[in-house]
Amino acid sequence: MEGKTILTGIRVNSEMQLGNFLGALLPMTRLANKYSKNNQINIFIPDLHTIISDVDGELQKNLVKEIKYYLAAGLEINENVHIYRQSYVPAHSELCWILNCVATMGETSRMIQYKEKSHNGDLGTNVGIFDYPILMAADILLYDADYIPVGEDQFQHLELTRNIAERFNNKYGETFVLPAKTIDQAKFMESANGSDSFGKTTDKASGIRIRDLQNPEKKMSKSAESENSKIMMNDDPAKVSKKIMSAQTDSLGKIAFDFFNQPGISNLLQIEALVTNTPIQDVISTWAGETHYGDLKKKVASSVSTYLEEFQKKVAEISDEEVYKILEEGEKYANEVANKKLFAVQKAMKLR
Ligand code: TRP
Repeated sequence: MEGKTILTGIRVNSEMQLGNFLGALLPMTRLANKYSKNNQINIFIPDLHTIISDVDGELQKNLVKEIKYYLAAGLEINENVHIYRQSYVPAHSELCWILNCVATMGETSRMIQYKEKSHNGDLGTNVGIFDYPILMAADILLYDADYIPVGEDQFQHLELTRNIAERFNNKYGETFVLPAKTIDQAKFMESANGSDSFGKTTDKASGIRIRDLQNPEKKMSKSAESENSKIMMNDDPAKVSKKIMSAQTDSLGKIAFDFFNQPGISNLLQIEALVTNTPIQDVISTWAGETHYGDLKKKVASSVSTYLEEFQKKVAEISDEEVYKILEEGEKYANEVANKKLFAVQKAMKLR
């Protein structure tokens, strides 16, 4: 693959949990490393999306930390990799407004995330929650992005982006590149993951879902009530071992990768594959025929705590200055590209 633009944004608010790290940040890092030689990789922090809910005053600190997480996860920076803050590229907000005048109330109200977050259109909801996918469309269309690695919950927003872009092009002339269809997005993520460790670990084609340790039918979430349900990236590694040892399993007495019947065990196998960077098939065959859940837990506990210990050490070694330098370069690049596209849009609409 050559000459494509791969773009994604990962929202930050508080500390990241392992599920989000292994399911989103790490795969994106590996994907970026794989494609950054011949393609553009845009990774941005959608801080304007974050403020649809209250921020805790730590936004800047958290965002710097998130970039350190990418670097500690192994993201290789070269001239094709750009990291930037959405709010430092004003063209995003400007294009969002323009696209607001292209998108319809009907299609935007149909977004599942909006319905959920607004409790089916409660009028006390802030307008940002409604407008969220339009800003997301601007994030994507400003850069002629082709592939947008996101979780399945965001696919509906990608479809909306395509529809808005197509409508604009029909009305004002070819201006936007349409991002790949969601089916092709899913295929891309699958092939990008391919033989890599995280590829075949997925129970969904488009993303890895690490499960709640106590309720493995649900995905791991930082809002889970029990501390034992989730692993935070800054957790004390010894504490993490304990959490894994107390993970919920089942009483079937065999170790198999079967999320339907054995979600707890499958979750542990998946975590093991990811943190040891081993193909899931290898992990599955290593444990096939074993019956002692305790042995598996001990191994996973040790793998995860070793991983976190090394990861936290790497994070601590990265300075804030290094991050700000990367952001400065990324924001310079992003402003150039985005302003050029914005100008083309304004010209097409006769605003200029
Ligand atoms: N909506 C995405 C999420 O919550 C984050 C995001 C914002 C994004 N803008 C984007 C992702 C543009 C990809 C492209 O996960």
